Amino acid sequence: MALWSGRFEKDMDQIVKQYNASIGFDQRLYNYDINGSIAHVTMLATQNIITEEERDIIIGGLEQIRTGIANGEIVFTYEDEDIHMAIESRLIQLVGDVGKKVHTGRARNDQSAVDVKQYLCFELREIVKELIELEKVILQKAQQYKEQITVGFTHIQHAQPITLGFMFMGYFQMFKRDIQRLMDAYERINFCPLGTCALAGTTIPLDRHMTSQLLGFAGPTENAMDTVSDRDYILEFLSTASISMMHLSRWAEEFTWWNSTEFSYIAIDDSFCTGSSMMPQKKNPDIAELLRGKCGRVYGDLMGMLTVMKGTPMTYNKDFQEDKEYLFDAVDTWKASVTIFAKMLKKTEYRMDKIAPQLERGFLNATDVAENLVMAGVPFREAHHITGRLVKLCENKGCNLEDLTDEDIKTVNPDISRATLGDITIKACVENRKTFGGTAPSEVERQIANGTAWLDYTEKEWS
Ligand code: ARG
Repeated sequence: MALWSGRFEKDMDQIVKQYNASIGFDQRLYNYDINGSIAHVTMLATQNIITEEERDIIIGGLEQIRTGIANGEIVFTYEDEDIHMAIESRLIQLVGDVGKKVHTGRARNDQSAVDVKQYLCFELREIVKELIELEKVILQKAQQYKEQITVGFTHIQHAQPITLGFMFMGYFQMFKRDIQRLMDAYERINFCPLGTCALAGTTIPLDRHMTSQLLGFAGPTENAMDTVSDRDYILEFLSTASISMMHLSRWAEEFTWWNSTEFSYIAIDDSFCTGSSMMPQKKNPDIAELLRGKCGRVYGDLMGMLTVMKGTPMTYNKDFQEDKEYLFDAVDTWKASVTIFAKMLKKTEYRMDKIAPQLERGFLNATDVAENLVMAGVPFREAHHITGRLVKLCENKGCNLEDLTDEDIKTVNPDISRATLGDITIKACVENRKTFGGTAPSEVERQIANGTAWLDYTEKEWS
């Protein structure tokens, strides 16, 4: 019979026990559960609710249980129900009646929340570290390819020339915001639920400030009712995870087509590809594809959790037990995805030999022609039209804008010549885009310097 079975006359049905149990997944919280109990009994002793001797016996027992779980001596079954009951019942077996005092002034509602919050605060910091590592790889690549020109696309059509360094710094900004979102969420997560009890606090004179401090939180949560029914912090984390996975997935998608035979802009390292069981020649970008697929999984975690919460009245409801699997899955998936992507990116070769010929195609310098006409006094709309006519002329002649002669140009507009079109080499097109946030190497250098300073600061703050 369960520790809570006083008012029951029958044991639970076996299938109900299995259905009800969360031990299968919440056992991964055992360290946090034990930390919470140690802080709790330390406070109970300071408040003279238990004696110092009782405190020490309980702590000794808990440490023994911690070791037993860590080295695999303690094995759980669904009969244990959840990690809280599993540890408490073993404590009582181990130290006898004193163990029955551990749950004084505490419910599983606040206990489960304090376990998850400790876990999340830890994992959130781990993910920040992984994202920082990814940002370092991006900065390195941006520096390396600061001046290498590639095709910039809109609608997957050739648009304007950019540098690879510029593109890298674009991705840098996305992951910077992901890190900032995590740090921002952390400020709200980092409050301690312990001692809010079932929903209304307790008549037992706890010191919640003390337990909060012992566990390293910024302070105790403000309202007990809100605390045991709040899962916002999980939802915030899951939405941040979803946004960040979306960023990774978009880049992974780019990897797959940049790696295709048609593009070959990049060569993904063998160690991040797999072969085909049937076609001997194949080298597939499976890891990039899988990462794109994993994004769907994390969205599912967010949608699942939003749906669990919808329609749950104040305060605790058993529905909330479902929070852990969504959270664990998202943590595992996101963390691994960031780590793997950073490694893959580091080893990816950017094939300038394949990219260079593509710069000749698709009139990447057309906007520059129009802008140079503007600087020569032609109103933009007219310059746009003239350039459009010039592009058409090139298509008919089978040449590029820079190949047009004065005679060709006069057929479109008698007032302009080749000289009016200015320097429209691809290099000039890139170097002249000097506006703040533009693709000019000088601008990319500024972005790299700013990014490096921000990353150094953030790394120091968070280590
Ligand atoms: N295993 C439960 C959970 O994770 C612990 C809380 C149970 N509380 C209760 N009143 N049944 O949510």
